Amino acid sequence: MSGHSLRDRHGRVATDLRVSLTDRCNLRCTYCMPEAGLPWLPKPELLTDHEVIRLVGVAVTRLGVTEVRFTGGEPLLRPGLPAIVEAVGRLDPRPEISLTTNAIGLERLAPVLVEAGLDRVNVSLDTLEPDRFKELAKRDRLERTLHGIKAASQAGLDPVKLNTVLMRGVNDDEAPALLRFALAHDYQLRFIEQMPLDAGGTWRRDQMVTAAEILESLKAEFDLVPDPAHRGSAPAETWLVDGGPAKVGVIGSVTRPFCGDCDRTRLTADGQVRNCLFARDETDLRDLARSGAGDEEIAERWQAAMLGKKPGHGIDDPSFLQPARPMSAIGG
Ligand code: 5AD
Ligand code: SF4
Repeated sequence: MSGHSLRDRHGRVATDLRVSLTDRCNLRCTYCMPEAGLPWLPKPELLTDHEVIRLVGVAVTRLGVTEVRFTGGEPLLRPGLPAIVEAVGRLDPRPEISLTTNAIGLERLAPVLVEAGLDRVNVSLDTLEPDRFKELAKRDRLERTLHGIKAASQAGLDPVKLNTVLMRGVNDDEAPALLRFALAHDYQLRFIEQMPLDAGGTWRRDQMVTAAEILESLKAEFDLVPDPAHRGSAPAETWLVDGGPAKVGVIGSVTRPFCGDCDRTRLTADGQVRNCLFARDETDLRDLARSGAGDEEIAERWQAAMLGKKPGHGIDDPSFLQPARPMSAIGG
């Protein structure tokens, strides 16, 4: 196989690894998980901390991965998270280490994680209204979330990015208020178009709040000009707010897909490589590792897994099928 990188057949090279550390969550955001939860992965099927560290090590030292993001479910629910971050921070070359979280628990964990080597954090925040939070996430935890966000910035994580998914008739009127909040606290806000990744399969293209609508509602209150800094492979298109330097991002995953620049590869909590959020196939590294395979063999299997990466997500194709696993089991 050519070189030591995760190259696909469309010229893209994956350098950004997303690792799901658990499929569990303490919230039930409607676009992600049903209120009753899901049949959780049984413990023996989950990678152990040691196995996570080994597989991430293979990606970083043999396959050119330079950024490692831990996701879930909710990664803060994984007891071994600080130890995993610490071990990944000792890899050579050291990757950039980040976390996508709902922030519940960050009050306690932010300083611990920073000490362990965490570089950055992205927090999901869809509303600033307690009742809406409860409706959206089925749990009354807005206050804990806000405390967690504050703790992240007090622990020195910079920037603190916020991710918002707008849903029609639920929080689609809140874009300006969320941006005001982000500007006031110096957080970087990005809106993400809702993707068909919910467990219930209820996503409808015509119900989705589009990037164009989001920009429209922000422009009612703010002066937005396209950020002259180049977008690169970053999925967010950014806009300078009221002349800058503050920015807001809009991730048009559906209406403005960035698949052509995708630099991601994913590892699920049970050790399956997914070459795309929307992939229909997975490649098992867990049983390979457990059968005694060496690092080189694992690296080769991972490279082979990337060769099947499709050029795009195809959400707009009539033949599109939602992945068999919901977001919480894949990892954002
Ligand atoms: N569509 C878009 N974004 C989603 N997220 C979770 N599910 C979806 C979805 N169906 C977001 C979360 C989190 C990030 C990992 O992805 O809000 O911030
Ligand atoms: Fe939990 Fe994140 Fe899914 Fe919300 S989006 S239910 S916070 S895993």
